[in-house]
Amino acid sequence: MGFRTIEELCAELEEKRTSALEGGGKEAVEKQKSKGKGTARERIAQLLDPDSFVEIDEFVTHRCNNFGLEERKPLGDGVVTGFGTIEGRKVFVYSQDFTVFGGSLGEKHADKICKVMDMAMQMGCPVIGINDSGGARIQEALDSLNGYGKVFKRNVMASGVIPQFSVIMGPTAGGAVYSPALTDYIFMVDGESIMHITGPEVIKAVTGEAITSEDLGGAEAHNTKSGVAHFEAKDEAECFAQVRKVLSYLPLNNLDDAPFKATADDVNRADVSLRELVPVNPNKSYDVHEVITRVVDDGEFTEVQAGFAKNIVTGYARIGGRSVGIVANNADVLAGCLDIDASDKLSRFVRHCDAFNLPVVTFVDVPGYLPGADQEHNGIIRKGAKILYAYSEATVPLVTVIMRKAYGGAYIAMGSKVLGADVVLAWPQAEIAVMGAEGAANIVFRKEIEAADDPSAKRLEKIDEYRDAFANPYRAAERGYVDCVIMPEETRKAVAQALNAMESKREGRPSKKHGVIPH
Ligand code: HXC
Repeated sequence: MGFRTIEELCAELEEKRTSALEGGGKEAVEKQKSKGKGTARERIAQLLDPDSFVEIDEFVTHRCNNFGLEERKPLGDGVVTGFGTIEGRKVFVYSQDFTVFGGSLGEKHADKICKVMDMAMQMGCPVIGINDSGGARIQEALDSLNGYGKVFKRNVMASGVIPQFSVIMGPTAGGAVYSPALTDYIFMVDGESIMHITGPEVIKAVTGEAITSEDLGGAEAHNTKSGVAHFEAKDEAECFAQVRKVLSYLPLNNLDDAPFKATADDVNRADVSLRELVPVNPNKSYDVHEVITRVVDDGEFTEVQAGFAKNIVTGYARIGGRSVGIVANNADVLAGCLDIDASDKLSRFVRHCDAFNLPVVTFVDVPGYLPGADQEHNGIIRKGAKILYAYSEATVPLVTVIMRKAYGGAYIAMGSKVLGADVVLAWPQAEIAVMGAEGAANIVFRKEIEAADDPSAKRLEKIDEYRDAFANPYRAAERGYVDCVIMPEETRKAVAQALNAMESKREGRPSKKHGVIPH
């Protein structure tokens, strides 16, 4: 009997550390690598600044004594957790280790995730989860499900307080998809990430439908069809670069300001090519991304949900060094009409910006809501209402640029003055009206047109008459619905000036528990 020496004690610690680093063992690690996937720790190293990661809970083990698990207690319990930095800013991370019980989530695995989430909340820092898991650890049964519940609850408490990102780098099935779905953004990798509630086998058995896992829940499916994911990458390296990039626009928490990034791009820069870019003829199309990149700092625009509901464009940029959220109608797709998917995409993005103190700059060229029984029956009324809700409840600075069409309800929805825009700018070709000149003339002058000797000529005459009278920005400017009519090339300067003026904006809201957002 007696005390062990410090050397012996340190050797024991060393041994434990080595054991923890082995994860699920050499064979399982080789299998992981053979699929082109990184290990849990390699992924963290790639995501964070070099040598910044501090691991915690390395020696946590499960306490399940069923189905032989009592014989297998790998240190760390299948998830690597801790904190580090991205571009010198503190973040908390967890990374599931597929080599340990398939990264499945049991009681202690969940507790480790909850611990970093709690720390992230307390410190006011983002939390990034790298998901690679077979889902609920089957041997731990209800404790696994309860573990998920604990994570979900924390996701909701953290929503709008700290940025939460979910990186999917393997399977995510069943209820396990709901933690990512509760976070701000889901990042997926082509050929590697899978998310679904029920997999291909269950679908085949229940509905007879045959579909591959990739087609059902791969990166492309969720980035183009379902709208579940927000970013798609060709490999893990590109995915981590996307995470770092998106984080660079955001504050660490809802009480913090986004980082300022100085630029050599003059805020007074006038880009006369904007005059030609958006054709005066409202039936002609153009790429609104070009407008955005010509207005923002250094032409740098980071698009969110680039592949989904392309009729609306959302993303981050900077103007005069300040982070802003950009929303724009895209005349190239569905003529820029608002539909169900666009409403979901736009409203969530505006609410995200509002939660994290990012001003929203909205570029408007919208003919209206998309007509169709399909749209009506799938709820364009409740979905479209979300746009009104999102802009109306936002208290961040709102700057709206009406480039061309702004018709009817869609004009009001797209960040109009009456919903709370602080500064509304309009270009000379803006048409702010109840509807387009053709539709309006057909209704208002129907009798006159029908009674004319040459109804076609009369129709054209009346269309011109209506266009001259109403299809311009000046009726709206007379009422103060538009604050300034500007030359297209003055946009960057005018938006920057507006953002400067609005920097000190403070706006209250009636005290309530929360609103009841249409969905
Ligand atoms: C325990 C699991 C596991 C799980 C995988 N493993 N999933 N252990 N619980 N859920 C183990 C495997 O037994 C195996 O252990 C190791 O992880 C690697 O798994 P493989 O099957 O060899 O890997 P692969 O061929 O790549 O297939 C991966 C997989 C498959 C597609 C994820 O393992 C799979 O279908 N697993 C079950 C998925 C599932 O039904 N999960 C429950 C979902 S319901 P050994 O020891 O052999 O190496 C759910 C509800 C959440 O999650 C609800 C929240 C409210």
